Amino acid sequence: MLFGRRKSILGLDIGSSSVKAVELTKAGPEDLVISGIGKAEIESPEMTRDVISQVLKESGIRSKKTVTAVSGRSVIIRNVPMMPIPDEELKQAVTYEADKYIPFDVDEVILDCQRMDEAPDPASGQVKVLLVAVKKTLIEEHVALLESVGLTPLVIDVDVFALGNAFELRNSLLGSDDQQVRALVDIGASKTSINIMRGNSSFFTREIYVAGNDITDAVAKRFGEDPKDVDRMKKDPGGALESMQDAILPVLEDIGSEIRLSFDYFENQFGQEVAEVYISGGTVLFPGMDSMFQQIFNLQTKIWDPTEGLELAGAGFNPAGFGGANSDMAVAVGLASRLRKM
Ligand SMILES: Nc1ncnc2c1ncn2[C@@H]1O[C@H](COP(=O)(O)OP(=O)(O)OP(=O)(O)O)[C@@H](O)[C@H]1O
Ligand SMILES: [Mg+2]
Repeated sequence: MLFGRRKSILGLDIGSSSVKAVELTKAGPEDLVISGIGKAEIESPEMTRDVISQVLKESGIRSKKTVTAVSGRSVIIRNVPMMPIPDEELKQAVTYEADKYIPFDVDEVILDCQRMDEAPDPASGQVKVLLVAVKKTLIEEHVALLESVGLTPLVIDVDVFALGNAFELRNSLLGSDDQQVRALVDIGASKTSINIMRGNSSFFTREIYVAGNDITDAVAKRFGEDPKDVDRMKKDPGGALESMQDAILPVLEDIGSEIRLSFDYFENQFGQEVAEVYISGGTVLFPGMDSMFQQIFNLQTKIWDPTEGLELAGAGFNPAGFGGANSDMAVAVGLASRLRKM
């Protein structure tokens, strides 16, 4: 820290439909504040770079140091069982076997790994290692995009892990330290991310490619409207709310049954049941999503706000515009929350 400048990190979530940015600043050793926050829609993919610049300008963000994320089908996440070896040798060993687990050529990807178990499983003698492989081209494009708007990428994370990190931050801010099993479900425009957590530990992650765009399409079809108009209607349904809810229910049931499969898998593997569902992402800003999903899952389902418990301490942006509607900021908050460990 030079000349008393406080440490800040920008968490930048470049989604398929909108850019979300959160800057966190260390106000004290354990005290993080939001020093900048903003979001804007991406009307068409060619506009992404301009939208990022616009969000940075309007959100009071000053840090260039950025944590960002990739997601989608070019990101492979696997739990690999291995005989225990020293952490320093892990990456080489995993790389050696990686072609068994990833559908791409090993030369085409960047690999990372992390040991998940403290002690080996008594029956197999093996430990689980989390393997993450991302296509090099995806990382390169992402880094080039950030650099083109003057940002310095420090870490490239994965959306679904950032979701878990945002929840871990929430637990620490709200003093929640129970070992309840909770499913985090973030429903964006193109995908739904699932992260099943016990306390602060992630046990299972998955992406499903059914989300807000499919909701938009279902409503567009039912009412014979243009999808662009439906995206506007979703934000202000007025008197059309009930008929819209009716039109989207089949899509929510589709998402719900895919998620159910993940819950069943988790329950089989770990012998514990998911107790609660925490939903986030832009899609859950549509009224009534919590009660509709609660009925589908038959489990307590809550919309959560990743900025809860964080003070807004920035200048040059208008936090009033964000009141109560921050559920779509979970990934961005989770990315910036890496500041805690820096
Ligand atoms: N206020 C709102 N009310 C209802 N729906 C909304 C609202 N704001 C955004 N949405 C919907 O949420 C979706 C976008 O959510 P989000 O910003 O989380 O997606 P994304 O991160 O851009 O996409 P992805 O992660 O899938 O690439 C869109 O389908 C949009 O129509
Ligand atoms: Mg997203």
